[in-house]
Amino acid sequence: MPLTIQSVHAWEILDSRGRPTLAVEAVLSDGATGTAQVPSGASTGTHEAVELRDGDRRRYGGKGVLTAAAHVNGEIANAVIGRNAEDQPGIDKTLIELDGTGQKSRLGANALLGVSCASARAVSVSRRQPLFETLSLGNPQLPVPMINILSGGLHAGGNIEFQDFLIIPHGFDSFAEALEAAVKIHAAAGDLIRRAGCVLTGVADEGGWGPLLPSNQHALRLLTDAISEAGYQPGDQVSLAIDVASSHFYAEGRYKLKSEGRDLGSEGLIDLLADWTRRFPLVSIEDALFEDDWAGWRQLTQALGQTTQLLGDDFFTTNPVRLQRGIDEGCANAVLVKMNQIGTLTETFAVCRLARANGYAAVVSARSGETEDSFLADLATATGAGQIKIGSITRGERLTKYNRLLELESRHGLAWRGRQYRSEILKKRST
Ligand code: PGA
Ligand code: ZN
Repeated sequence: MPLTIQSVHAWEILDSRGRPTLAVEAVLSDGATGTAQVPSGASTGTHEAVELRDGDRRRYGGKGVLTAAAHVNGEIANAVIGRNAEDQPGIDKTLIELDGTGQKSRLGANALLGVSCASARAVSVSRRQPLFETLSLGNPQLPVPMINILSGGLHAGGNIEFQDFLIIPHGFDSFAEALEAAVKIHAAAGDLIRRAGCVLTGVADEGGWGPLLPSNQHALRLLTDAISEAGYQPGDQVSLAIDVASSHFYAEGRYKLKSEGRDLGSEGLIDLLADWTRRFPLVSIEDALFEDDWAGWRQLTQALGQTTQLLGDDFFTTNPVRLQRGIDEGCANAVLVKMNQIGTLTETFAVCRLARANGYAAVVSARSGETEDSFLADLATATGAGQIKIGSITRGERLTKYNRLLELESRHGLAWRGRQYRSEILKKRST
């Protein structure tokens, strides 16, 4: 007897910023139940699938998701009840066809993703499997984390333009040791900020520090110093990553870096970033350029692609069509994977497969507005993506994912390939 969906139910909850989002429960024919909570971004890409908001300003300033919940409880429930829950591609195809729009704007990508993930989790419950086994693409592997320490841009009240300054603790024997190093480095960074007399503007959206630093370059210096202060070797044990999130300070062909006192075209920004990869242990740069500057991305990839992970977030929006174009045109060498940018699990897997088949790295990522759902930890492990980006080591919505990875390492003896990180992900980096 196939395991079928008996019911789905959605309701409105709050995300880590106190904004409404969806929770969805799926119940299967054998009584197994799975829930999923849907994340939400702030620095969203133009080409993302549409997150349906009510627009009724009397509730949550228009950000309510009661319409999306009603879609799940009505139209979507009618379409998926009775369907084989173990056929994830079939469920997701039904959802996509029912919506019928290119960017999932009719029913909402938030509604579709909630059902897609709740159904997968219910299957794992029914099979009494850990979720990563149910989702597995065949080579599960614990991811190396890219951990936020400092925030700027749209995620903090600070004055620096770049959105994320992160560490990659790779030179360790286990995920648990890598996480411990991250905690020490986070504390060391806080001490350095205080000693420098910089104002700390509280905890940023992804749980890191949001200091009033003089410039982006200062942030990279501070992070490198924090690694040393905590007793680790910058580059050998712990490397740096940044998310420039450049579309959010781009206008008419120019990148205005007020904190650096620079007004740059794409070539100027590429030169600046290239300089920083030589001066800091910076191995991964996300959204270096504007999301529709395909020619600039090609230039960037020619300049830095052999030595640095060039990650497309707003640039690719987890969209197989955009990723394929990037592959064809020699743009970037890695893709950030955010499920709600595309709206179903099956399409998320398709992006991971496409990346792998073409030698692009994949980094499974949370949003700045997160929930207590740890789904991403299992997803990153299941896809064997090798990397995960879920924010800092404070705030419960981040820790539920880190803690799930600790559980997966401890209980399931999954491989940790941190020590191979630099050679595998950055095959040709020479330093
Ligand atoms: P967002 O930020 O969730 O606000 O889009 C995360 C990122 O840009 O990586
Ligand atoms: Zn990003």
